[in-house]
Amino acid sequence: VPMSRHPSRPRFVAELSQCLFDFVIQLLPTAEEMAVKEDVRKLLERLIRTIEPDSRLLSFGSTANGFSLRNSDMDLCCLIDSDEKLNASNLVTMLGDLLERGLPLGIACDIGFENRLALENTRLLMCYAMIDPTRVRTLVLFLKVWSKRRKINSPYTGTLSSYGYVLLVIYFLVHVKNPPVLPNLQQMPPLRPISKEDTHLGGHNTWFFDDVELLRQRWHSENTETVAELLIDFFRYYSRDFLYNTSVVSIRAGLLKKESKGWQSEYPPGRYNDARERNRLCIEDPFETDYNVARCVTKDGLYTIRGEFMRAGRVLAGRPERAIMALADLCA
Ligand code: GTP
Ligand code: MG
Repeated sequence: VPMSRHPSRPRFVAELSQCLFDFVIQLLPTAEEMAVKEDVRKLLERLIRTIEPDSRLLSFGSTANGFSLRNSDMDLCCLIDSDEKLNASNLVTMLGDLLERGLPLGIACDIGFENRLALENTRLLMCYAMIDPTRVRTLVLFLKVWSKRRKINSPYTGTLSSYGYVLLVIYFLVHVKNPPVLPNLQQMPPLRPISKEDTHLGGHNTWFFDDVELLRQRWHSENTETVAELLIDFFRYYSRDFLYNTSVVSIRAGLLKKESKGWQSEYPPGRYNDARERNRLCIEDPFETDYNVARCVTKDGLYTIRGEFMRAGRVLAGRPERAIMALADLCA
């Protein structure tokens, strides 16, 4: 094939960015879907309040953080504001029945209780999404679709949750890219003094710089890479550069060592459930810092995930004729 029939690399990359935008846009939930979900949330909240008047039902996860795809589940969290939670067990029973029978309009949802940390990490991810909506959202949404299509988005069978993939992306944009695409919201100086009570939740420091409007005025990334360049580099980093055996991904603190967290895998292999099995892949939760978000990832799961990162890197480096084909190939 004569060289001239291949688009040049810069052209391929520009085309790939455009394809990524177009691809992701058609997978976004419609305004109607969002409205139906909000209706369902309100309906359930009214129901819950008949049992526990001082309660609220809040949405978290992808429906609330800007990373949702069409027809994704809804994650809901029930907060009871009164001190004596008399009716909590009735509530749990009622919701259990309801969810078992299925919700109106075919909406799938999970309801948790008092999961205030999840509400906060949802808000953190939302703030990151809002700083650079185009690049961050496109990357995250693409990786979510890709990981689902490639069947590596399933903590129940030993691979990684969507939440885990989102953290990998944010980490890459804050700590790997130089200049960074995103600032570290958990390490920025606060605008005014903050007290410990305001910032701690169950012993975890949940403070982060959340004035996104101000940030958008004051913080500008020096990084001008396109979405396609970032995606290619993301796959390169996680297939080649990241040291899975010794390192921990932390969006709060940057690259950490397993040793420093007591997550090392040098223990002699023993019981199935030992530290070694739980800490093959280490991703520190932004607030619950002793919690490894990737603890469900098994040896085989990690092998598969890394294989997929390599495959994706190869597909994108293979310089196919058209970017659209590369994308189709990637998600095949
Ligand atoms: P899809 O459901 O695939 O659309 O993705 P999602 O963005 O909703 O992610 P996922 O369902 O994996 O997680 C939903 C929310 O639950 C996240 O935004 C977190 O707030 C919370 N969450 C999920 N997994 C964990 C975890 O391991 N630790 C903690 N602390 N929170 C988690
Ligand atoms: Mg979800």
